[in-house]
Amino acid sequence: MTGQIKSLDEYHSEYARSVADPEGFWAEQASSFEWRKPWKQVLKWNFREPKVNWFGGGRLNITENCLDRHLATRGKQTALIWEPNDPKRKARKITYKQLYGLVCQFANALKAQGVKKGDRVCIYMPMTPELSVALLACARIGAIHSVVFAGFSAVSLADRIKDAKASVVLTSDYNSRGPKNIPVKQVVDEALALGCDSVRHVIVHQNTGDPLQMVEGRDIWWHEAVKGKRKSCKATAVDSEDMLFILYTSGSTGKPKGVVHTHGGYMVYTEYTFRNVFQYQDGEVYWCTADIGWITGHSYIVYGPLLAGATSVMFEGIPTFPDPGRFWAVIQRHKVNIFYTAPTAIRALMAAGDQWVKGRRMPSLRVLGTVGEPINEEAWQWYHERVGKKRCPIVDTWWQTETGGIMITPLAGITPLKPCFATLPMPGIQPCLVDANGHEIEGNDVEGMLCIKYPWPSILRTTYGDHERCRQTYFATFKDKYFTGDGARRDADGYYRIIGRVDDVINVSGHRIGTAEVEDAINKAPRVVESAVVGYPHDIKGQGIYAYIITSGPIADMAAFKKEVLDTVTKEIGAIAKPDKIQVVPGLPKTRSGKIMRRILRKIAEGDTSNLGDTTTLLNPEVVDEIKQGAKSA
Ligand code: PRX
Repeated sequence: MTGQIKSLDEYHSEYARSVADPEGFWAEQASSFEWRKPWKQVLKWNFREPKVNWFGGGRLNITENCLDRHLATRGKQTALIWEPNDPKRKARKITYKQLYGLVCQFANALKAQGVKKGDRVCIYMPMTPELSVALLACARIGAIHSVVFAGFSAVSLADRIKDAKASVVLTSDYNSRGPKNIPVKQVVDEALALGCDSVRHVIVHQNTGDPLQMVEGRDIWWHEAVKGKRKSCKATAVDSEDMLFILYTSGSTGKPKGVVHTHGGYMVYTEYTFRNVFQYQDGEVYWCTADIGWITGHSYIVYGPLLAGATSVMFEGIPTFPDPGRFWAVIQRHKVNIFYTAPTAIRALMAAGDQWVKGRRMPSLRVLGTVGEPINEEAWQWYHERVGKKRCPIVDTWWQTETGGIMITPLAGITPLKPCFATLPMPGIQPCLVDANGHEIEGNDVEGMLCIKYPWPSILRTTYGDHERCRQTYFATFKDKYFTGDGARRDADGYYRIIGRVDDVINVSGHRIGTAEVEDAINKAPRVVESAVVGYPHDIKGQGIYAYIITSGPIADMAAFKKEVLDTVTKEIGAIAKPDKIQVVPGLPKTRSGKIMRRILRKIAEGDTSNLGDTTTLLNPEVVDEIKQGAKSA
């Protein structure tokens, strides 16, 4: 491993070096890994097509760097501490050696099912160690994993399986979450009934052991699949730019797109950021509470920590089960040093009352982190005082599915903090703010749309099966820049503060949801003619979902209608996309060209109707007053 940045001066000099000589800088980082064959060219790129190649010609396998490389020195060290949903059950500890064995064995099982390099494997599993094993086993044999968060519905799962043309689905019988056992495999059955013709096999991990229907010839138990398989498996060497995984994420328009990350660059960047942002020290216990179904789990539960040889906690349950003191109990139980969570969890626990955290001594804690959405000042202060007892730096890490790793963040204990600021870019990251005309806004104390000017190793390479969509979405808005979709401020000290999305994406409890997707789902409900969805400020979730709906006629039973809408959204997308407020409206404010004026709807949803701006250009200005009146009943 190369070293860590140890001081603010060193950060500034590393940053300057990474901009003056990006290739030299990243080549140095990359050289601390094991490559089967060295790269020929560090970087080749243009943002026009776009085409970005890092470490071209290099061959490697990321799992050799996550596992094999550590065996001699860390074989007996715990890689994973699994904390089950039920606090009365014993935690499971898995050493690097054991994890290596499990990954190899399952890789052999996948091979036996005919999975080959380049095949897509869809993973729809709860937070058990087998989920990590599943990702790594795919990577071991060069198969491309596509993890789908186990809270998505059968329809969403089917869409993702079809888009990736997955040949195998990995799942579990049930998901233990809080007091409930959710039938995960049943969702897979429902998804496959929607015509996922590419799927040959389903491998089912027995998690709870509750009764289950297996489909003869298609379904195989995980424990049967690994029976007699060897605990060693030579890793398949892949090209640095071969696909490692696809992860679907929501955007402004259409269905979620499959963001593609590749082996070499993703490996270098996730390890580098993990080590430097959290300032991980050998022997420390690190805990990221995300789900592996999202990018945070991919990069900072599975790959980053393992690449860095860390010990991490993986948690099956939810923050409020059996009570809102669970996170703090787990921190005490496993002597967690670094704790990384989402603002929405902090706000929920803060709302549950101080009694759950008061009196809890957590002397092991050294670093706190947040991710996924802007953190408000109150939550930041509470986290700092009540959880970190004013001793622990908070790293507010800004990044995205598409960026693969943390982009703008303090380095723990090094960067002077400002509440709610993601502060400064990581070395190698060249952010800029642009105005609506695409002109870069220079200087400090300014606000604009956040773009990145130069490639970094884990930038997305494409959107699966549709490169043009990737170009359009990220590289066409502003010439020669990657557009993040976020608005940001740069203050007098040059610190960045992320304001939030400037596109039609809502961030609900740190989950990215496209308004168009939710509208499509709502429109499938009975009696819905048209809908428009916007975000509004929500105390716990950050943003809530507000749906305006035009119906085909008067609704006699409003409660029953709203339930139908919620059920339809749950069926089409999943419970995470359920609107918090529904308002039936006589019409939607539209421009003369037929475009919905979301600005007005957003204002009304926010409860701010004092200044709706110019409504005279609307086709139907009269609906605005009616919507304003009706908003009280939503
Ligand atoms: O709006 C930003 C917000 O989350 C978006 C990315 O969502 P996703 O791809 O699901 O990845 C989330 C986890 C990396 C961003 O465009 N976001 C993420 N982190 C922060 C944030 N907003 C403010 N502050 C953050 N630290």
